[in-house]
Order: sequence, then structure tokens, then C-alpha cells
Amino acid sequence: MKLSVPHISRKDLRSVGNVLKSGWISTSSKTVDLFEKKLSKFCKTKYSIVLNSGTSAIHLALKILGVNKNSEVIVPSLTFIATVNPVLYLGAKPIIFDVDQHHNLNIKDVINFINEKTIFKNKKTINKKTKKIIKVIIVAHMWGRACNFTELKNLCKKRNILILEDAAEALGSYIKGKNYNHCGSVGDLGCLSFNANKIITTGSGGAIITNSKKFFDKVQYLANQAKDDTFNYIHNECGYNYKMNSISAALGISQLRRLKKKINLRKKIYERYLFNFKNSKDIQILSYENKSKTNYWMNVISFKKLNFKQTYNLSLSLAKKKIQTRRIWRPLNLQIYLKKFQTYKIENAKKIYFSSLCLPSDDNITNSDVDKISNHIKKFYEIIVNNKL
Ligand SMILES: Cc1ncc(COP(=O)(O)O)c(C=O)c1O
Repeated sequence: MKLSVPHISRKDLRSVGNVLKSGWISTSSKTVDLFEKKLSKFCKTKYSIVLNSGTSAIHLALKILGVNKNSEVIVPSLTFIATVNPVLYLGAKPIIFDVDQHHNLNIKDVINFINEKTIFKNKKTINKKTKKIIKVIIVAHMWGRACNFTELKNLCKKRNILILEDAAEALGSYIKGKNYNHCGSVGDLGCLSFNANKIITTGSGGAIITNSKKFFDKVQYLANQAKDDTFNYIHNECGYNYKMNSISAALGISQLRRLKKKINLRKKIYERYLFNFKNSKDIQILSYENKSKTNYWMNVISFKKLNFKQTYNLSLSLAKKKIQTRRIWRPLNLQIYLKKFQTYKIENAKKIYFSSLCLPSDDNITNSDVDKISNHIKKFYEIIVNNKL
């Protein structure tokens, strides 16, 4: 029983086969255009640009938002490493913040930090400690659980700070404002991932979604080698080869058709886990902000009484029963090469990391599978706690 694996249907094979047969397999084709159109329609954004990975999407998005070696970027501690690495690619510095009970960036902390630890001068927000400009905040929607940053958005407008949403895990998740808005469509730019473990996949792939024509034009230009004159090969800027190819796009179009069905399947899995552990005081299934809508991509379980080693031992016992679990993302502030960067009041992330595991959340897991997994967890948990293993 797996965390999350790709599911390739006959229709997916046909869609990919048709593109292969057509010969139009590069990054420039009607198939790529069509996937972008379908994605915009689904996310209700004016524009989408499909790219070769979520990491490329974050890199390009930060570049377009103006991040450079003089900038600082606020990031959450508990996220996949690809949220922060692109900050370093651009020579900028991250400031690492704590997460809330839903594993999302602690918005209140960020607001307090901006109000107390920065000044606003010449239309720039300057970090009092480092004297550097805080250019962008990356809000990540962890495990598909939407991070509601409405309050922060208003402050960022006043302080000229841009918001990049890392919605890599959150295709099909929505933030509640006046209406429901797709994750990634609320900030200045949003990034998605279609990696093999995501709710839909293109093998490897990503996208930037936006409502800004200016940003859209710039992403298309830079993602495709910054071609100013295709006949004479004139490039007036340093571009990237980041666009998605047509084979991946064909898979994406076909997978996107099944997204709603997949979300429903995963919703049932989440609800069953929740039901099975509803009477456990010390074991908790990660919930989500109840006003938002989630895609239920990944389920996470936390054990109040287990330490780092015990959580690992529990994972090993489950693996013997062919139940795959894995630790959640290691907080960025615990990664050796990131230790030199500024942090702000990180209290929760480490605790959560030490005592949590990702659970099998794949489409094909049945209620009886969830019951089996839950029973094994309860049994091994008791053994480990009682025998202090
Ligand atoms: C939160 C987060 N950000 C960024 C990425 C990077 O996406 P990709 O693997 O497509 O480069 C991922 C997933 O892999 C992710 O989970």
C-alpha cells in the first residue's frame, strides 16, 4: 500500500500515442497550448504556462518577480526542498518561518515580523537586521491543504512585497475568500507540479498560473530560451529551456480529465483515516482549515508520545506489513546548508517533523486497506509506547 503512485489509464496511453505518432513532440505544439488552456479553465486563471518541473516553475516565477542577490524571500520551514532551492539559485537569501497546525506558513508570525522587524523606505520593505529588501513571500499549500493568506495579502500590497504560491501539491485545492479561489491563483504567481507522485502527473512537469498578462508574457519568453528573433537567433536576455514537451502535455490533458474523480477517491481515504482515529487522544490525522477545499493529496499522522526514533521504528514495523510510510518534509532550518540563514520563532516545525508520518494515500486504497493500516498502526503504536522501543 503506497503513499501516492502514478496511474496510467488506456486513455492516457492513447493520448500519448497520438502525439508520438504525429511527430509533434517538442515544447512547441497545439498539445502544449491545449494543456495550458485546459489548466487555465480548471484553475480559473487567465493564463497558464506548462513547464518541465515544479522546481523550474518556482525558479522562473521568483526570477520574474524580481528576486536577485540583493533580495530576501520568506519561506515556510516545513516544505519540500524545492520551495527554497530556487531562492539560492538566484543568489537571494531565505528567511525561514514556522508553520501552523495545518503545516502551512504561520501567517500571523509573518505579519508580526513585517510589522516589527522591517521598515518601509522608498517603497521597499527592508529587514532591520540584514538591511536587505524583502521581495517575495512563498506561501506553500502543504499536502494539498490550502494556506489562507488573505490577511497577509493586504499587508503585502501596502509593503510592496510579492506573493508566490507554491501550489505544487495543491492542484484541485481552493482558498476561501469571497468565493473559492484555486490555490496558486490568489498571489502574484502560482506554481504547480505534475511530478509522478502528485495527484495528476505528466511524468515530470510543472506550471505557472497567473492572471497577469505582463507576467505571462515574461514567463513564456524566458521559459523558451528568450527568443527575440527566431530566424536570426537573436536573444536579448539569458533564457531557460523550461517548457513542457508535447508528450508530457498529452498525458497531462488526459490525466486532468480524471482529477475530480481522483479527489473524490482520496477524500474517502482521508475520511476513513479520520474516522478510525477519532477516539485516539495521542494519535492525530492532519486536518485542514475547514473553510478551504482540499485535494486530499496526502494524509499525515502525528503521534504525541513518540520521539524521532520511535516514529522510525513504527515506520519499519509497517513496512514489514507492506505498508509504505515516510517522514514528512524535514524542516528547512534543520538542513545543514540552510542553517546559516535567518529564522523567525520556529517552534512547531521540528516537533511535527519528529513525530509525524505520511500515510498511504493513493487512489486505489480501499476502505478495508485503510482499516488494515489503521489497525496495524494502533497495534504497533501500543507496543512501541509501552515497551519504550
Ligand atoms: C511543496 C513542493 N514544492 C515544489 C516541488 C517541486 O516540484 P517538482 O518535483 O515538479 O520539481 C514539490 C514536489 O515535488 C513540492 O512538493
